[in-house]
Amino acid sequence: MEYTVKPTHRVLLGITGGIAAYKSAELTRLLIKSGREVTVAMTAAAREFVGSATFQALSGHPVYSDLWDARPANGMAHIELTRSNDVMLIAPASADFLARLVHGRSDDLLSTTVLARTIPLIVAPAMNLQMWQNPATQRNVATLKADGVHVIGPGTGDQACGEIGDGRMLEPAEILAALDAWAQPKVLTGTRVLITAGPTQEAIDPVRVITNHSSGKMGYALAQACADAGAQVTLVSGPTHLPTPFAVNRVNVTSAAQMLAAVEAEVDEADIFIAVAAVADYRPTTHAEQKIKKTDAGLTVNLEPTVDILAKIAKYQRKGRGKSGPPFCVGFAAESEKVEQYGAEKRARKGIPLLIANHAQSAFGADENRVTLIDERGAEGATRLPRMGKLALARVLVHEIGKRQATVGYVA
Ligand code: CTP
Repeated sequence: MEYTVKPTHRVLLGITGGIAAYKSAELTRLLIKSGREVTVAMTAAAREFVGSATFQALSGHPVYSDLWDARPANGMAHIELTRSNDVMLIAPASADFLARLVHGRSDDLLSTTVLARTIPLIVAPAMNLQMWQNPATQRNVATLKADGVHVIGPGTGDQACGEIGDGRMLEPAEILAALDAWAQPKVLTGTRVLITAGPTQEAIDPVRVITNHSSGKMGYALAQACADAGAQVTLVSGPTHLPTPFAVNRVNVTSAAQMLAAVEAEVDEADIFIAVAAVADYRPTTHAEQKIKKTDAGLTVNLEPTVDILAKIAKYQRKGRGKSGPPFCVGFAAESEKVEQYGAEKRARKGIPLLIANHAQSAFGADENRVTLIDERGAEGATRLPRMGKLALARVLVHEIGKRQATVGYVA
């Protein structure tokens, strides 16, 4: 099976007058680094904050500001700019510029280009807290959303004016992530996804645990990819150092027993359950209340098996509205040899429709992964995917899961 990365977007980056315009330089750099082509258009106010030479140097293209710019052959910069790009991103978008968009104003190059555009528009508002909270701005943003404009942010935090609160432009990396998310096909719209991720810790005493090297990266990437595909996502996570993916509801747990309880609390509403966590297979039979003292006699810790969460959920009868039987269950397995055969056996043992076999040497802690998909076609019908970054892989897996789970009615 051939997977192609989505075509690179040619981004028309509009910059309006706000102190956050200085961050647009970093945004330009990140967009270019992500493989996109960037053309910058600035309002006169934006040029009061940052010079156009900065953006020309970073984007490798002339910067446009003037409605009467004579460079385009047809003399119509506003038409040329929309025709030669795939998406228009305005960051920062000032309160005044949003107000002008609401009224369809076209008194400078950027506003005229918005009005004349044939491409989608994304805006990243940036302004002082009071300006953002003002009913006029809130009305304007609601109108723009109703007009099909995609609004990202604003974020919360320290502002240049000394206030703390909503109104700050999203950070350049967050804008890039939002652009990536927006560009994903919404194959899981209306779907609820429950995901486990990370390691578990099984306590021996108050200071010692049995755990493993799972970083949580694959589960978190899947949570993000599912959310980007339009799903409502709950991520039940063991201890990790990872930030919560955007728009994902995260439930923190420590032990396998807590993970099971958290999953059971959510599963009635779930359409899809993806078990990525490296759940401890065993836990100490007893948990010492006080720290166990060191002796020369050595220490024997007796272990008992934990509940196999995935196998249990695969037999679960949901009581959610309009739902019965188990959710569509997806398991992960680490295999170091005979990947298809062992994977097919494990899939059957767990009673799940889809198993994703990690090639054990490549999975733990790494930023990339190589997997094989095993479904009802068994070892013979297994699909080997190439090694790729975990988020890119997660997006492919979302496509595969979306295709397979019946309730979505998704056509590949
Ligand atoms: N799993 C689970 N609960 C457990 C153990 C595992 O939900 N108590 C899930 C994992 O999240 C993963 C799959 O089951 O989706 C892994 O199955 P497992 O049988 O543990 O396979 P491996 O980790 O590959 O280990 P082994 O080959 O030793 O069985």
